[in-house]
Amino acid sequence: MGQGKGITQDMDLIIKIKNITFKNPIWVASGTFGCGEEFQDFVDLEKVGAIVTKTVTARAREGNPPPRIVETASGLLNSIGLENKGIDFFLKEQYPFLKKIKTRKVVSVSASSVKEFEKCIEKIYEKEDPDAVELNLSCPNVKHSGTKYNLLAQDAKATAKVVRAAKKKTKKLLIVKLTPNVTDIAGIAIAAEASGADAVALVNTYPGMAIDAEAMKPVLGNVVGGLSGPAIKPMALKAVRDVYKNVKIPVIGMGGIMTGIDVAEFMLAGARAVQLGTTNLVDPSSYERILGEFKAYLKRKKIKKAASLVGKLG
Ligand SMILES: Cc1cc2nc3c(=O)[nH]c(=O)nc-3n(C[C@H](O)[C@H](O)[C@H](O)COP(=O)(O)O)c2cc1C
Repeated sequence: MGQGKGITQDMDLIIKIKNITFKNPIWVASGTFGCGEEFQDFVDLEKVGAIVTKTVTARAREGNPPPRIVETASGLLNSIGLENKGIDFFLKEQYPFLKKIKTRKVVSVSASSVKEFEKCIEKIYEKEDPDAVELNLSCPNVKHSGTKYNLLAQDAKATAKVVRAAKKKTKKLLIVKLTPNVTDIAGIAIAAEASGADAVALVNTYPGMAIDAEAMKPVLGNVVGGLSGPAIKPMALKAVRDVYKNVKIPVIGMGGIMTGIDVAEFMLAGARAVQLGTTNLVDPSSYERILGEFKAYLKRKKIKKAASLVGKLG
């Protein structure tokens, strides 16, 4: 649907993941772009490589107590806690808007058990036909059952179990989103790949906290949260490179991308596509600026195919 727009006479922005073509490698990240509707006055949504929805869960979740977002040096700390109205509401009230937009659609799902993951994916494909599902195994604010770790993606076996189950429920592109809060992120990516993931997305936020010394209290209602934005970019770049060197499936990179040059850096490190997160909250119209800057970089470097950047760092 409209994916051919990525080729102009002297520039080819198209990238392929599994059997799907994306008009460009720059997507928007889960939880920072709603379902697109909130951004329609700021961004031409049909220019976006893919829209990843806010993570949806089987049942509605209230999220964490406020305050849930605080700005820190070069970053943003959030403890939203997967607030959402549940999969039924999402499919009835939120997805129909996105469905009309001529861009790739990725539905992000999370759950606290394998069964719930299965149920969510079943419901999605019973009613709709998004291009991909992104399994959010990495939200730092949700407790999971069945693993001694706080996050599913901290446990290779738990990751493998969810991915295998999800794979049985969809033939479409299955993306697994990983947490950087592990000793060896490549090991988790290898487990996801071996269990059927078509691509891995990384990174989710890094754990952190902010303290109000005057009040002698934590700033966030949840005490701890996830750090995003430029503060995490160097660590995210390293995580992308580590994973790229250890798996064959495509890597989708993110973490602090604020400019078109940042996009190029992630692709050089091994990302076939990238996602923009915090930048959307800093400036809701940043998508088109970043796309323009990325195109200008390619032109300046006389690079005709964006995909040729992937892993060029070696
Ligand atoms: C306010 C906020 C909400 C987020 N919600 C989600 C979410 O629902 N699901 C998810 O997978 N990631 C979520 N994330 C993480 C982002 O998708 C992304 O992985 C992370 O912020 C790193 O990218 P960035 O530095 O460009 O923001 C959220 C991030 C922020 C800042």
